[in-house]
Amino acid sequence: MCGIVGYVGRAEAAPILLDGLRRLEYRGYDSAGVAIVTRGHLETRKCAGRIVALASLMTKQPLSGSFGVSHTRWATHGKVTDENAHPHFDASGKLALVHNGVIENYQALKEQLIQGGDTNFRSETDTEVLAHLIGKLYDESCASTVDAPQKKARLLTAVRTALQQVIGTYGIALVHAEVPDFMIGARRGSPLVLGVGKEENFLASDVSAIVAYTRDAVYLNDFDVVALERDKFEISSLAGEIGDYRVSKVEFTAEDIKKGDFRHYMLKEIFEQPNTVRDAMRGRLSLEECTAKLGGLNMTPAQLRDVGRIVLTGCGTALHAGRVGEYLIERLANIPTEVEYASEFRHRNTPITPETLVFAISQSGETADTLGALRESRRKGFRTLGICNNVASTIARESDGGVYMHAGPEIGVAATKSFTSQLVILTLLGLLFGRMRNLSTSEGSRIIEALEALPGQIEEVLNLSDQIKAIARTYADVNGVLFFGRQFNFPIALEGALKMKEITYLFAEGHPSAELKHGVIALVRPDLPSVFIVPDDAVFSKNLNNMEQVKARKGPIIALTSGNGAKQLKNVANEIISVPEAPDCVMPILTVIPLQLLAYHLAVELGRDVDKPRNLAKSVTVE
Ligand code: M6R
Repeated sequence: MCGIVGYVGRAEAAPILLDGLRRLEYRGYDSAGVAIVTRGHLETRKCAGRIVALASLMTKQPLSGSFGVSHTRWATHGKVTDENAHPHFDASGKLALVHNGVIENYQALKEQLIQGGDTNFRSETDTEVLAHLIGKLYDESCASTVDAPQKKARLLTAVRTALQQVIGTYGIALVHAEVPDFMIGARRGSPLVLGVGKEENFLASDVSAIVAYTRDAVYLNDFDVVALERDKFEISSLAGEIGDYRVSKVEFTAEDIKKGDFRHYMLKEIFEQPNTVRDAMRGRLSLEECTAKLGGLNMTPAQLRDVGRIVLTGCGTALHAGRVGEYLIERLANIPTEVEYASEFRHRNTPITPETLVFAISQSGETADTLGALRESRRKGFRTLGICNNVASTIARESDGGVYMHAGPEIGVAATKSFTSQLVILTLLGLLFGRMRNLSTSEGSRIIEALEALPGQIEEVLNLSDQIKAIARTYADVNGVLFFGRQFNFPIALEGALKMKEITYLFAEGHPSAELKHGVIALVRPDLPSVFIVPDDAVFSKNLNNMEQVKARKGPIIALTSGNGAKQLKNVANEIISVPEAPDCVMPILTVIPLQLLAYHLAVELGRDVDKPRNLAKSVTVE
């Protein structure tokens, strides 16, 4: 949600900032801008639209200079206009600020500034208010003549003093025309990483923006303030105490975030799933004990045995993974498990018993709602674990332990490979907790065999891509799509509908199959196909009944089945997609992939911007 890139060094800043913004564009793509200090003057280029629009503006009106800040926006306050695009400036026009997050008390702060005589606001944003506040404090502190080191110190003090007045969240980067080769960053609730280079340093919302230049990174903590120059940096607290830091090696390279031969990141990530699923279970299966080994949980066998209840929380796709997890953990381990929207969990008085274990599931590890739920759960004293992909993320760092997905960077806004990795991890948890209780060794080894077979089976599912593309073409002019499934595949119906909505913009809903007759059936008509997820399992015949009900009302049916299912569906379904056989608890990992492909091919057919669908952003760091 909004991407920030800052540079201070010896090279031309503009190409580095633009390159970084392109890599962060998945975080927001309403508008973009750059501010660079050129010979003591602050110059900016910014516009509504994608990075490509900014790049073309900068080709016509280039900027030169070796330090500056840049931003790609996902609008929270104020419309998508050139004026509201970041960077924003203080009243003097000498300070440029980029911001990710929400300043909740910006109206009150603005009032104070206006009462003090500052009326020169050019945008509707909360960010501009912060820029004005910092600029005012800095100008006041420099009323008498000050030298260059004093200017740095005073700018830093102005930032700290302003941020102490802020209610809300921020990741910021700023430069000032009077303070050369100097940049300040700070964070509270929105991610910010410092990239450490040779005679150059970087700031970014996400390491992917800077990994082409350096793989040495310092992940800032909330309330950190960092002052960067070319050859040094200093991290301190809001109160001004010098802080400790650790330089980490970024675990992926610039190569890993390229699209390769794929047309879209989403397609690349769908096709990575044989490997990402393998990586999610690598080294975590014990054939001898027929269980899973998850050392990152940081729990003793006795603590694992005594877990009496599990709460799974997350948002969007991660929440859908949690819904599969609920079925899985209850089936394999017989532990009462609940799934709760992270945004609801933190504001609701959910009764949790002392032996409850809470899992926050998040690909990015930065989702504000999930982070809020994690903090609330920890505040109440519950052991709270993370299931994250981004190892350096706030959720990963703030949880009591957890399990990493190891899926590699996911750039497409629609989550795909992270979902199947989450499902593998939840299966491992079910297996581990099950084997601490009543799950037999033979059941345990059956699950392990099923998990180990997955990468090969996923390859088979991916081979169905052309068949699914043909189906997408057939249904390209529909008005919407319904998705139905039962048991383990009910959450897959929800996930199939979410993928469809996100990238095709078609109306789509997912329901438990049997709910059809309680209302949804009123929607059935010839231009609204129903996708039924009906593997050849214990509830197959019940699903079949529901399909007949749709067929009787002339609703087209796309059936996703397995094993002998295809034969039995011949006369009911218009289209049949068949995936390999697997135990029902593992089946969602196979059934979701055709739905990812269906949404993808339909979106391409409709000419949608698959990797950057409208109104969305990859990582939602505001509430
Ligand atoms: O990074 P997270 O897993 O916490 O993200 C949660 C949701 O924002 C995310 O899954 C969103 O729903 C995706 N765009 C779905 O494809």
